Amino acid sequence: MQAGHFLNAKQEQRRLSMVTCYDYTFARLLARSSIDGILVGDSAAMVMHGHPSTIAARVEMMKLHTEAVARGAGDKLIVADMPFLSYRMGWTAALDAAHVLMSAGAQAVKLEGVDGHEDVVQRLVESGIPVMGHLGLQPQSIHAFGGYKVQGRGDEAAQRILRQAVMLEQLGAFSIVLECIPAPLASEVTAALKVPTIGIGAGAGCDGQILVLQDLLGMNTDFHPRFVRHFLEGANAIVEALDGYDQAVKSGDFPSIEESYT
Ligand code: KIV
Repeated sequence: MQAGHFLNAKQEQRRLSMVTCYDYTFARLLARSSIDGILVGDSAAMVMHGHPSTIAARVEMMKLHTEAVARGAGDKLIVADMPFLSYRMGWTAALDAAHVLMSAGAQAVKLEGVDGHEDVVQRLVESGIPVMGHLGLQPQSIHAFGGYKVQGRGDEAAQRILRQAVMLEQLGAFSIVLECIPAPLASEVTAALKVPTIGIGAGAGCDGQILVLQDLLGMNTDFHPRFVRHFLEGANAIVEALDGYDQAVKSGDFPSIEESYT
């Protein structure tokens, strides 16, 4: 799967599925699935490293996760997140960061927003690096946004997101994530663009959807945003398995003779 396939999917009215992934083991499982694309999200800082926000992600961290995913992901499209500020210090620094991520195995990069770094998006695209945009709630700007809140409510805010989406498309982005915006606005943005929108908390009118893998697998029982559906009760299943192992060890049932060498 290449970035170009995302454009074909929109033209052919095929919905796209994406999930985040940060490690080799899950990448191998995703390679066996019918999921269209993988995002090595900067949410790795929270999900894998326990930081309170994505602001802690660094290029080096994203490189390590991207390399691990690339070793297992087969032919899935891998998009790597450009971390906090890595694309706000001029286009040469941004190209350096993108160079690291593409060399680590990404086939595209994602960056949040567009205002003030239009030149970066353009340079990346002109350099042959497919760019995914990210509008609406932008977790790297959480302190400016005042929390994890729905964006684009009200005419002015909605028009701003629409303008930014059109701008990203004009600059050459191949796809745009729309995070936590009202469903009618996401549908309007989607209809205005030739490139596919990938929604998270943006309703069913987007061209595709993305979820954090650990959220859809129900691994985090403390996190219940409206837009997350558990396709597995993973936390319960894993704790049950661990307790089963613990009991088997303590009762002497594990290991059996068959599980031991003679
Ligand atoms: O880092 C991430 O997980 C993301 C998704 C929420 C789209 O950017």
